[in-house]
Amino acid sequence: MTDRKKPAKDYSIYFQPPSYRDAKRRGKEDVRVHYDFKIADDLKSMGKGKFYHIQTYGCQMNEHDSEMMMGMLEEMGYTWTDNREEADVILLNTCAVRENAEDRVFGELGHLKSLKKEKPDLILGVCGCMSQEEGVVNRILTRHQYVDLIFGTHNIHRLPELLREAVFAKEMVVEVWSKEGDIIENLPKKRAGLKAWVNIMYGCDKFCTYCIVPYTRGKERSRRPADVIAEVRELARQGYKEITLLGQNVNAYGKDFEDIDYRFADLMADIQKIDIPRVRFTTSHPRDFDDKLIEVLARGGNMVEHIHLPVQSGSNEILKKMSRKYTRESYLELVRKIKEAIPNVVLTTDIIVGFPGETDAQFEETMSLVREAEFASAFTFIYSPREGTPAAKMADDVPMEVKKERLNRLNELVAELSLKDNMKLSGQTVEVLVEGVSKNNPEFLSGRTRTNKLVHFKGPASLTGQFIDVKITEVQTWLFKGEIAAVHALEA
Ligand code: SAH
Ligand code: SF4
Ligand code: F3S
Repeated sequence: MTDRKKPAKDYSIYFQPPSYRDAKRRGKEDVRVHYDFKIADDLKSMGKGKFYHIQTYGCQMNEHDSEMMMGMLEEMGYTWTDNREEADVILLNTCAVRENAEDRVFGELGHLKSLKKEKPDLILGVCGCMSQEEGVVNRILTRHQYVDLIFGTHNIHRLPELLREAVFAKEMVVEVWSKEGDIIENLPKKRAGLKAWVNIMYGCDKFCTYCIVPYTRGKERSRRPADVIAEVRELARQGYKEITLLGQNVNAYGKDFEDIDYRFADLMADIQKIDIPRVRFTTSHPRDFDDKLIEVLARGGNMVEHIHLPVQSGSNEILKKMSRKYTRESYLELVRKIKEAIPNVVLTTDIIVGFPGETDAQFEETMSLVREAEFASAFTFIYSPREGTPAAKMADDVPMEVKKERLNRLNELVAELSLKDNMKLSGQTVEVLVEGVSKNNPEFLSGRTRTNKLVHFKGPASLTGQFIDVKITEVQTWLFKGEIAAVHALEA
């Protein structure tokens, strides 16, 4: 089926900066799915003999976007290089979620300025979530005029044409759609290794008050079940051992379908039947985590016993100010239900400390929730104000020193709980997917358990990509050491 909608604006003028106001709007218009993506024949040889490099700063979704850009560039004849000095095209695929992510990109742009001077034909592009921010685009326009191309998260499929434009244009090409576009299927993807990411939905409608993502990624749009399932089947056929289903809030999957009643639990139940050994998903919002999903996950099989369930805070007042729409009590009740249904589950989380006005007592509530939930690990962050979000306007009297001290205390607690959780595996034999020679210690192979824990052990590199049993001999806070107990038979 091909379904084309004409873009509302004239994109022949390649100057279209983003607007926060438009990005905030959630309209009722249909999201259409396009199956006719094609790179024009005359663009297919554009990159012949040329090299590209992409630097990725963001979350898994951002990484997966990079894989699609790699896929497109390679279909245009470009070849990947690790060496930026050799590259003819450099893209910075940026993240806007916290200020330090943005600072890194601006720092990098400073470095690349000299490279651009030495090599004027180099095409330097900025894409990803920062490009969706008004303030960022204005800053690049005024202070980094040597950038050749800016495009956003909604139009990555336009990369081939925008690149052509950038090569021939005398001025910076800026094309950022403030409003999300349609869903574009069939983009080429260059995936690496044994594990594959699969988008199941785009965007986020939750509007947590601190978060920029709903502005940079647009409204929630789910891919059609048949398209997701076909992609997973194909990955299984190609021999991938693990997939991670991606969405900012995967539990909202399917809420936007008007013609069918099919939600995340239904999708998981269908994927459970596909012969791919491990299925993960990220990220799930506690609000929409329903009993049906718990039931499907509890059946096990290829559904691994690891759930990442960001809590953000243990204080009801702060959760309210964050607009998370659940309470400490309802979160802990969900944790109880999950642990009851999946006794060996490993729970991990995200936490923000130092939200505007967070008191010592409110922070202590986060500490006590972390203890009660017994998270096996957590990503912890100091709150970072994001321009255009409601929290950025909230009064904040908590000094940075206090925030840092809270973060340190929280991290100590998380490390303590991680070691405690890891001790449960002491002396046990666990199934490990061998990922290859360890980057930190070439004497060891490294692999991951179903619960995503890292294991180092000695063995031949030829085991890469196989499932083996490893007996745990040493437990550390973030790592296990072990010995091979058995190698699983390879399927025919
Ligand atoms: N969609 C995911 C989160 C994506 S962002 C979810 O809702 O779970 C990943 C994490 O970054 C968030 O869970 C949050 O802990 C953190 N984060 C987001 N905005 C932030 C901000 N302004 N300051 C600090 N941390 C932030
Ligand atoms: Fe951000 Fe909240 Fe959406 Fe997660 S659910 S992406 S934290 S707005
Ligand atoms: Fe960053 Fe955008 Fe992902 S802001 S966390 S790259 S969705």
